[in-house]
Amino acid sequence: MKLLHIDSSILGIRSVSRALSAQIVEREKTIHPDLTVVYRDLASDAALHLSAAHIAAWSGKALEGAALCCDLELGEEYLTELFEADIVVIGAPMYNFTIPSQLKVWIDRVVVAGETFKYSERGESQTLLPTGKKVIIASTRGNVYQTDTPIAALEHHESYLRSVFSFLGLHDVTVIRAEGLAFGTDVKNAAIRKAQAKIAALVA
Ligand SMILES: Cc1cc2nc3c(=O)[nH]c(=O)nc-3n(C[C@H](O)[C@H](O)[C@H](O)COP(=O)(O)O)c2cc1C
Repeated sequence: MKLLHIDSSILGIRSVSRALSAQIVEREKTIHPDLTVVYRDLASDAALHLSAAHIAAWSGKALEGAALCCDLELGEEYLTELFEADIVVIGAPMYNFTIPSQLKVWIDRVVVAGETFKYSERGESQTLLPTGKKVIIASTRGNVYQTDTPIAALEHHESYLRSVFSFLGLHDVTVIRAEGLAFGTDVKNAAIRKAQAKIAALVA
């Protein structure tokens, strides 16, 4: 059994999403003792943003330089890792109301027509990924984005990730959320404890 573990926070050892995603992985190892883990730290090593050179390479033009060549290989590795993963764990902080750009770069490499999905004649997406994958998101944010409040309209974070995974046919998505992290130590610690309790309650 394989687990793909992705982090994207730029806050290093102070990161809450990194701590929570690591705890999720430990919990999954307890549930599945045969688990093999592949780790990607997108904050320290992410693929390049897509560019005209990528489009040219994909359309069969000669590659421009070693950097692009390595980057295309990295994109292939991202795809293989997603195909092979039974469980995908993502540490996803909110930056400016959405996900970190490093995580968006990963999404740009794995949401690829003809690779992970195709369009039906009616324009709906059809997954090309193996079925049965589980996605667990460690979601962190400074504010609180309760539904039916004015700030909820700015929530393009979990909703975006859920939309992307649903588009790829991945519907088994669990969000472990710690929010209100900018509201002082007590609120922050309570939010983290609540998230940790959800992690402890994860089942196969
Ligand atoms: C660059 C940056 C942008 C942020 N933007 C938002 C935001 O739009 N909304 C919010 O609620 N919190 C925002 N925050 C706060 C983070 O979501 C919060 O600190 C969270 O704990 C970050 O996750 P991490 O601890 O895993 O790095 C931002 C933090 C950073 C560093």
